[in-house]
Amino acid sequence: MTKEELVSEIKRLKEEKNAVILAHYYQIGEIQDIADVVGDSLALAQWAAKTDAKMIVMCGVHFMGETAKILSPDKKVVVPDLKASCSLAESCDADEFGRFVAEHPDYTVISYVNTTAAVKAHTDVVVTSSNAHRIVDQFPKDAKLIFGPDRNLGNYINSVTGRKMLLWNGACHVHEQFSIKSLCELKAKYPNAKVLVHPECKKEIADMADVVGSTQRLLNFATETDNQQFLVCTESGILHEMKKRCPQKEFIPVPPENDKTACNECNFMRMNTLEKVYLCMRDEYPEIIVADELREKAVKPILKMLEMSK
Ligand code: 13P
Ligand code: SF4
Repeated sequence: MTKEELVSEIKRLKEEKNAVILAHYYQIGEIQDIADVVGDSLALAQWAAKTDAKMIVMCGVHFMGETAKILSPDKKVVVPDLKASCSLAESCDADEFGRFVAEHPDYTVISYVNTTAAVKAHTDVVVTSSNAHRIVDQFPKDAKLIFGPDRNLGNYINSVTGRKMLLWNGACHVHEQFSIKSLCELKAKYPNAKVLVHPECKKEIADMADVVGSTQRLLNFATETDNQQFLVCTESGILHEMKKRCPQKEFIPVPPENDKTACNECNFMRMNTLEKVYLCMRDEYPEIIVADELREKAVKPILKMLEMSK
């Protein structure tokens, strides 16, 4: 099928099956363009919780589909590629995390949404990069907190909230790759450019930021400010929406450590294609299934997050 035929089939299936297509900002542009909603992890979870559609097509990575299914168990949740995982979620084994939590019985457990349902089942409250600061601030100053699995986000939240949360030693292979050398060179070349950094990046990159925030926060800042140039330290899929919203502005992706000419791309996010979106809608497969017992445990910290982000 041509691209045009795929787009028209996806639109037809959307009507026929009463489906909603949710896409993360890191998806390829073609998928973002056919989605009903494009957003960060928090927005996608909020939409999944409130949609009336019968079928949710989650164009992102596995934990996003799983979160949608946990929030809307009566809906069919399909994903373009079941193998689209997340290195950060994989860096936290649920049994190991469970043992770590059990060793600290008087601690409250905060987990990033980039985790499996089994890790969420060991968690008191889930956070995303857009509400982590706000949620951690709601705990008493002397609360004993565990934060997992992202050590960079955890360090950043510790620094802005003055906490000393115990951190799990996990990281995202994409965000850890940004080259400080290239960022310094680009800053010298574009001295007026604002530096936009996702909090999954290392401290040395975050220290050079004008704004540290979720994909949505970085996008909002780029849209609202008068500045014309931006050095972008997050997955380069976000540039699609940035350029769409601000066609007159210049967005320069900061490259990874090992290749000055490359953009930083998440290989998991990039597994999804327009054809796979079409096929998963046509076949209603692959479908995300979460066992009832696991869902009952994992839903509590997610609902707590939605409550605490209001
Ligand atoms: P956001 O919630 O900021 O969109 O981040 C999701 C993600 O996977 C970042 O790597
Ligand atoms: Fe996971 Fe990193 Fe990809 Fe985000 S960019 S989905 S954290 S591997």
